[in-house]
Amino acid sequence: ATNRTFTMIKPDAVAAGHIGGILEQIIKSGFKLVAMKYTTLSPEKAGQFYEVHKERPFYGELCQFMSSGPIVAAILEKDNAIEDFRKLIGATDPAKAEVGTIRQKFAQSISANAVHGSDSDDNAKIEGDFFFSAFERF
Ligand code: CMP
Repeated sequence: ATNRTFTMIKPDAVAAGHIGGILEQIIKSGFKLVAMKYTTLSPEKAGQFYEVHKERPFYGELCQFMSSGPIVAAILEKDNAIEDFRKLIGATDPAKAEVGTIRQKFAQSISANAVHGSDSDDNAKIEGDFFFSAFERF
């Protein structure tokens, strides 16, 4: 199993003051930080990041939302990182997320769903490389 994943704390959760709470739950769940930054996505950058969803009906709204305010981007390390992190954050739709998951606790809607987590090893690498150079990883 892969040992790295990529995450973003999305604009809704940053604006609501949940950076600390979310990072605490991630770290306490055994994930180690490899890289982290507080930044923003322009609409163009968001469009590039979510290019795989280009044909989906929610693509425009997604890119607009993801560029609406600052985010936290991070590369995380743990055994079985992809799967364990997806379990930790819960279902994409917070209404369907299990009790105690990050999205159940901190998300507002399927768009404003507090965090992103990579869905595969390949995407974790692509997404991490999108934000971080080799000199920004520890
Ligand atoms: P994320 O894990 O960042 O990857 C794609 C995002 O699209 C997803 O989280 C959701 O926040 C967002 N999204 C918005 N609307 C929908 C929808 N109807 N179905 C799935 N994802 C959606």
